[in-house]
Amino acid sequence: MTTRIIGTGSSLPKQTVTNDDLSKIMDTSDEWISSRTGIRERHLAKEETTASLSVEAAGKALQNAGIRAEEVDLLIVATITGDYVTPSTACEVQAGLGASRAVAFDINAACSGFMFALHTAHAYLQTGIYRTALVVGAETLSKIMDWSDRSTCVLFGDGAGAAVVRAFGEDGTEKEGMGKGGSEKGCGGLLAFEQGSDGFRGKVLACEGRKNHNPLVQNPLVPSYVGMDGQEVYKFAVSTVPASILRVLDRAGVDAGEIKYFVLHQANIRIIQSVAKRLKADVGKFPLSLDHCGNVSAASVPILLDEMNQKGMLEKGDKIVMSGFGGGLTWASAVIEW
Ligand code: COA
Repeated sequence: MTTRIIGTGSSLPKQTVTNDDLSKIMDTSDEWISSRTGIRERHLAKEETTASLSVEAAGKALQNAGIRAEEVDLLIVATITGDYVTPSTACEVQAGLGASRAVAFDINAACSGFMFALHTAHAYLQTGIYRTALVVGAETLSKIMDWSDRSTCVLFGDGAGAAVVRAFGEDGTEKEGMGKGGSEKGCGGLLAFEQGSDGFRGKVLACEGRKNHNPLVQNPLVPSYVGMDGQEVYKFAVSTVPASILRVLDRAGVDAGEIKYFVLHQANIRIIQSVAKRLKADVGKFPLSLDHCGNVSAASVPILLDEMNQKGMLEKGDKIVMSGFGGGLTWASAVIEW
């Protein structure tokens, strides 16, 4: 049994906000932001919600896969910015799509969220519990930004990306009743995963939830925002990500030279350049969306993957690495044969 991505989709809020736009409302500049991060603009939600962006991205992924919402058995949304504490965003998406048979739940692993969700779906599919999964990474991070803190708010954006993942037999064929969506012989699919967490360093990138508020203790219900020690997060990323990628390549028995693209979480161009250097890989193999999306946390990897898919950059048999890293701290990498 193997699992394979058979469709992708993404959705961005209509409103684009450039670095120059931000420089009109805070003490920053396009030069500072773009030279340190590679970010030039991001999309910020007005009417859009985490659920509405997820529904649009997921609907496009189903269309791209050529399957109906009713065929989805498992629906996982990775997010740290759900619109409700309950219901989960995944349950909202189930209703929005009409995915009536799906089991739906959210995963919180911040910027590694999509990779954690993909690995979870892969495990369910591998064991034969489910056959078709819809995996979404979605955020409206702008609502948890402190817009008076120029060191964090300029980095992040809103959006959603999705992938349909399906189980195939060892020979690449679908089991009866699994619908269409790619049944070529010998498809490689998701070859290997590697993931980890380090809660001991979690506070370097954090956003507090509600404090205790009950008859025993009265805390004011003040909103909290993302706080970050940027340099510590940077050091974490440039050491952990290459090590994780080398481990997953080893696990897959694939040489770095065989990889066509490294699809990394889009936090900062300098992090990506450093990872490329440490892997001795051509930086041209690291496609980017951060220039026009900023850091969209759990949505970064699936948005980029969908952009590549829509541009026709992914061909059957291509080996790609995907890697996410961020809050928790968490990280996760996978090797995929498209
Ligand atoms: N515009 C202009 N100046 C800014 C600014 C902004 N948006 N944000 C911070 N500055 C200023 C600081 O106030 C500081 O000024 P000072 O020297 O007068 O005190 C100066 O720029 C340098 O700040 P510093 O925080 O040391 O910058 P840096 O070179 O470390 O770059 C980051 C900051 C955030 C770009 C960098 O640390 C980084 O990319 N970290 C990783 C963050 C990340 O990707 N997080 C998500 C991971 S999932």
